[in-house]
Amino acid sequence: MARLNEDNLVRARELVALYPHKRSALIPLLHLLQEQDGYLTTDGMQHVAELVELTPAEVRGTASFYDMFHLEPVGKYLVAVCTNIACLLHGAYDLVEHIEQSLGIHPGETTPDGMFTLEDAECLALCGNAPCVTVNWRYFGDLTADGWDSLVEDLRSGRLDDEVPPHGTLSRVRRAVGLMAGGAAGSTEGVAAPRPAPDLATSRTTPAVASTLAPGGVPRDAVAGGGTQAQAAGADGRAAGRGGTDAGAAVTGTEDQ
Ligand code: FES
Repeated sequence: MARLNEDNLVRARELVALYPHKRSALIPLLHLLQEQDGYLTTDGMQHVAELVELTPAEVRGTASFYDMFHLEPVGKYLVAVCTNIACLLHGAYDLVEHIEQSLGIHPGETTPDGMFTLEDAECLALCGNAPCVTVNWRYFGDLTADGWDSLVEDLRSGRLDDEVPPHGTLSRVRRAVGLMAGGAAGSTEGVAAPRPAPDLATSRTTPAVASTLAPGGVPRDAVAGGGTQAQAAGADGRAAGRGGTDAGAAVTGTEDQ
């Protein structure tokens, strides 16, 4: 993959049209590009530069500033472990050490099979469920060493495929409000009517995430009624409680809120 594909190009033009200045769409377009390829390719950034009328150097300079953008390929699962104060006080360093041993890599590295990239992170905004990690921007809180082992098993087996999207997919809900029908930014043809607002209850690109882990790292199915709260919390995609939710929705602004 290099440049934005046909569908994403339409989407990109719609996004650019939302702003009075094309360059203002830079961050949303970089998220879109990363969603497509998992990281920001040189050709993709060149394409984005053309769309927002910036130089490739300006685009790269912006992309390299933000931790959430990756300029090199990452593993299928990008694991970010919070080591900020609340998580630190709840054993984050021990958790990082366990994860390092479990995966055989250190933060900043990718497993030889390309499955996991590990990174440490500043506060992920799930302090109430410290220590926590995100996997491809989905939260898993109250994580213990045993809980991590269960999580890895679930990920490797594909049991969480519906809940943990491919890396790069930041949000579940596509913004439609304000976008023009037909998607032809810069063109007045076929753009008479705005798109209808999405039904937020049904327009998710992935189901609401519910952590498979109960507090303490115990698998939820081993805890009577344990899954109910997580599913309820994930149902509106906002609760940062026991269940997982979109890290991106809480951590960064994006066009897809
Ligand atoms: S300190 Fe870890 S989520 Fe806030």
